[in-house]
Amino acid sequence: MTRPVLKLKRVQDTNIEKGSTVLVRVDYNVPLKDGKVSDDTRIRETEKTIKYLIDKKARIVLIAHLGRPKGKVDPKYSLEPLRSYVENIMGAKTYFCSDCVGDVAREAKSRLGDGEILLCENLRFHPEEEKNDESFAKQLADGCNYFVQDAFGAIHRAHSSTSAITKYLPSSIGFLLQKELEYLDKIVTSPQRPFVAIIGGAKVSDKIDVLLSLLDSVDVLIIGGAMAYTFLKAQDVNTGKSLVEDDKVE
Ligand code: 3PG
Repeated sequence: MTRPVLKLKRVQDTNIEKGSTVLVRVDYNVPLKDGKVSDDTRIRETEKTIKYLIDKKARIVLIAHLGRPKGKVDPKYSLEPLRSYVENIMGAKTYFCSDCVGDVAREAKSRLGDGEILLCENLRFHPEEEKNDESFAKQLADGCNYFVQDAFGAIHRAHSSTSAITKYLPSSIGFLLQKELEYLDKIVTSPQRPFVAIIGGAKVSDKIDVLLSLLDSVDVLIIGGAMAYTFLKAQDVNTGKSLVEDDKVE
C-alpha cells in the first residue's frame, strides 16, 4: 500500500532532460577538522541521487549549509574543503563556487558541462536563507530547471532552500529522502516488535517532539550522543563540562 508520505513526487518521476540544470539541496553539515572531513557519511548518502543525475547527463548544482554562521560569511564554515570529497565520491568533475547566489553563481552555473557538479558556498552566509526569504529562493533557482530535495537532516527547517524554493522550480525528492521517509513511515505505522529506537545528536531541543511522539510506540527508547547529558542533568547526575542544554533540563 502506498503511504501518504510516499506520494511526494520523486526524482525518477521527473523527466530530466540531458543538459538541464538541477538544483539539489543536500545536508553536508559534516564534521570538519583542519580542512579535512572526519566523517563523510552525509556526502556518501547523497551518492545515489547525484549519480542518477550524472547518468541523465544533467548539470548538478549542490546547495547546502554548514554549521550556524548566523547570516555572515565566516571562513570557518566554508564548504570549499568538501569539493574534493564530492568529486571523489561521485566520480565527476566538481567545481566550487564562492557564493550560492548572484553573478558569480549565475556564471558558474552557465559554465557547467553535462554530468558535472557545482558545489556552492554555505547558504547560511546569507541571513535570508533562515528567514525563508522568497527573493533569495528565487535567486537560488536562477539558471536552474529543476529542484531536488535530498537534505533529510535539514527538511524540518522552513528555510529558503527547503521551503520557498519549491515555488520557483518543479520539485521532487531524491533517493535519500525516499529511503528515510519509507523507514519513518514503517516505524510509525507498523513497527516490528520489540521496537527499540536509538536517538543521538547534540540538541535535545530539536528532537524532543520526536522523542515524545516515539514514546507512544516504542518498547525501549535509548538516548545517546551529547543530548544524553541533558537527561542525566535532569536526574541530578554531575555532567561536568559536557554539553547540556540548560533550558531543556526541565
Ligand atoms: C544537522 O546537522 O542537524 C542538520 O544539518 C541541521 O542543522 P541545524 O540544526 O543547524 O539546522
